[in-house]
Amino acid sequence: MEALKTNVEILSHPIIDNNLSIIRDKNSDCEKFKNAVRRITYMLVYEASKNLPMIEKEIETPLETTVCKVFDSDAQLIIAPILRAGMIFCEVAQDLLPFANVHHIGMYRNEDTLEPVWYYDKRKKIKENREKVFVIILDPMLATGNSAIDTIKNFISKGVMEKNITFLSLISSPEGIKKVSETFKEVKIITASVDRTLNNKGYILPGLGDAGDRIYNTVD
Ligand code: URA
Repeated sequence: MEALKTNVEILSHPIIDNNLSIIRDKNSDCEKFKNAVRRITYMLVYEASKNLPMIEKEIETPLETTVCKVFDSDAQLIIAPILRAGMIFCEVAQDLLPFANVHHIGMYRNEDTLEPVWYYDKRKKIKENREKVFVIILDPMLATGNSAIDTIKNFISKGVMEKNITFLSLISSPEGIKKVSETFKEVKIITASVDRTLNNKGYILPGLGDAGDRIYNTVD
């Protein structure tokens, strides 16, 4: 695992690298693509959850009493998929973290300005126990960084502490990583790859194309 800056982690692992080759391949069909995304997502979510607060609890095994570590039930974990491509991450995140709340973020990209346009946000302000609220934002592609920045700003405006926010992506652009990590010094970014650059339509090169189209089989 390579640390770019203190708050950016690029996961490198044979399972991730092999599955990245599958999702990049334009000949991988929808099913193959989704299965490879899921395999990488397990590893990203595993990494993102490693510092969640734990407490000790007595557990009776069939043979004796022991002390186990369990998730602190006073803490609130929010997983926030950015629609629509983020939904595939959400299934995996809910499998690993079944106690998490899911806050959907509805936004699409204006293809001319490359700015995000919000259409769904049902989240409420966090009123108490802010230190114990953790957010994992899920978006397969960190491209221009505009939707990531808007989503993070929105969570902060609702009371979430910047240091408790983690942003997960499969593939990132250097431009997006720079923008997000310089805007929010305390937000953690975990990604499986930082690619070469963005094209003039805001797509990542070499990337994988449009993640939503490839997941939902809506490629023209
Ligand atoms: N969104 C995508 O789906 N792909 C990109 O390359 C950039 C943004």
